[in-house]
Amino acid sequence: MIGFGSSNVISTPSNSVVFSGLQPTGHLQIGNYFGAVQNFVKLQTQYECYYAIVDYHAITVEHDPEELRRNTLEMGFDLLACGLDPKQCVLFVQSQVPEHTELAWILSAVTSYGDLQRMTQFKEKGETQEFVSCGLFTYPVLQAADILAYKASKVPVGEDQVQHIELTRRIARRFNARFGETFPEPDVLLTAALRLMSLADPERKMSKSLGPKHYIALNESEESIREKIKTAVTDVGPRTETKEKSPGVANLFLLLKLSASQEIYDQFESDYARGVLKYEPLKRAVADCLVKTLEPIRARKAQLKESEVREILHEGARTARAVARQTLAEVRERIGVGKLI
Ligand code: AMP
Ligand code: TRP
Repeated sequence: MIGFGSSNVISTPSNSVVFSGLQPTGHLQIGNYFGAVQNFVKLQTQYECYYAIVDYHAITVEHDPEELRRNTLEMGFDLLACGLDPKQCVLFVQSQVPEHTELAWILSAVTSYGDLQRMTQFKEKGETQEFVSCGLFTYPVLQAADILAYKASKVPVGEDQVQHIELTRRIARRFNARFGETFPEPDVLLTAALRLMSLADPERKMSKSLGPKHYIALNESEESIREKIKTAVTDVGPRTETKEKSPGVANLFLLLKLSASQEIYDQFESDYARGVLKYEPLKRAVADCLVKTLEPIRARKAQLKESEVREILHEGARTARAVARQTLAEVRERIGVGKLI
């Protein structure tokens, strides 16, 4: 059982509530790890944290049911392997807490249609879909419900989600103005502004959707990590006039920064500054350090049993539900539904 008390009080920083959600896209890649999950792991020691695998968001575009079920569990494995600790945070699957969808409906009544039309993620994703669902349009309302069900005041996300959190603030503000102070207006905790780029095309963000040569999965074999780093694009090398690194080289340096000791990193920086950097040893160092950084994650994942992961997620949902239920009772009361007199 997780040792949290009631989480209604969110007034002081020491008991701030953090919420974040991750779409169940299957195995995590190292961009997700360094750009998001590592930060989740740090936050769990400082705040009351709720992390949801948001399967209801995943159904807003066409999907395969079996694959979604597999990916949802897989994400549970990966997040636990990365160091999310069920004793320190609440990890659960969104659809196991039906209060999220109930609150989403209520919040849709205080969400402006015009605001939703302005969401860039909707415009971008909509363009790639043959069938544009209503769910894709109201996706940010469910996201607001995820956050506000726990009265979270901090939301660690990447840059691309900032607009959704701003909308969440507007929704909270409008609800509070109409029905009385209920929700805090959550702030974005920008996950370190780092952007890991594709290994094969370093002008694009590392993402699974680009294809296997572009990313390294968290559970990639040592051999495959070494091969991908070895063949990573370095472009034309240092641009001597500006001393600026080419995107591919900058990306290798970023990987080194994320996984190597300061001494190793400084050594390569100094080689670069003196114009004596060779890509081969740089790549070898990046591969060595990355393999070493990912090894404990692989080891933890190998130890996890499916039954254990399921149990952690069920327990997480029970804990989350107890909190979300209280928020819903308050919200229903405030808007005048549910109780008949
Ligand atoms: P996604 O599933 O692509 O929306 O990513 C989930 C989280 O991982 C978000 O917080 C992203 O900002 C982060 N993330 C994904 N890819 C990268 C990347 N290449 N570099 C840094 N962060 C990333
Ligand atoms: N929309 C987010 C993404 O695509 C995932 C998400 C759903 C989320 N609900 C959330 C993130 C609540 C933060 C808070 O990455």
